[in-house]
Amino acid sequence: VTLLDHQQQHRPIEPPDPHRVHDLYASRFVDRYDLGAELWERLTCGDALAAFEHRLRSLPKRSLRVLDVGCGTGRNLHRLAAAGIDIDNYVGVDTSERMLQRAATNHPYSRARFVSGDAIDTLGSEGKHDLIVITWVLSHHPDPAALIAAATNALAPEGRVLILALTASDTIMGRLHAWRLRRFLHSNPIDPVILRESSPSFLGVSCRGLITIAEIPRR
Ligand SMILES: C[S@@+](CC[C@H](N)C(=O)[O-])C[C@H]1O[C@@H](n2cnc3c(N)ncnc32)[C@H](O)[C@@H]1O
Repeated sequence: VTLLDHQQQHRPIEPPDPHRVHDLYASRFVDRYDLGAELWERLTCGDALAAFEHRLRSLPKRSLRVLDVGCGTGRNLHRLAAAGIDIDNYVGVDTSERMLQRAATNHPYSRARFVSGDAIDTLGSEGKHDLIVITWVLSHHPDPAALIAAATNALAPEGRVLILALTASDTIMGRLHAWRLRRFLHSNPIDPVILRESSPSFLGVSCRGLITIAEIPRR
């Protein structure tokens, strides 16, 4: 993982259509999601994940109130537990009932709570959190800057937002990657400037600038 290049410029990209995103995660795609995501992460972004998990392990081990935005099938629960974080205070929010059902099936013995709803609405109504994780969600969102702002506003004192996001890169590979993501996954890699402008305490890129990890503290 390297530090983000502050000089890079990106072309504006049109936002993804929330209806298409919703349809994708209401479809049979969900049945293949866990395996697909696992393989994709291992093959493309092992170093970004290692940095993300390192960040999780370095958090204080007290009982953290965790909100997982766009939690999907609950994959972050494994990472949080592996980092020694008590997941009894975990809330996962997602717009897809089908992904949430899968999350509940994947974690039958956990006291984690899964909530159906839109990310921004839930961030305004679920109280304050010590840790908010947002993994692979920002590029599906029509207004990623608003989502980051809502998350930072929902932090308790000393809280932080940890983000893993697909980001735009103006290289041939970056453009091809973005085309494939838009075409097949209704996901538009976001301009890293959006992350930079939220005053992160840590910002790193991986996989030739296509993935960014950010940690945003409470302002
Ligand atoms: C690529 S999956 C990521 C799931 C999980 N965070 C992970 O790391 O595997 C994106 C998830 O974001 C959810 N999502 C998309 N837009 C959302 C929104 N506006 N509010 C809440 N969830 C949303 C989708 O339903 C889907 O489950």
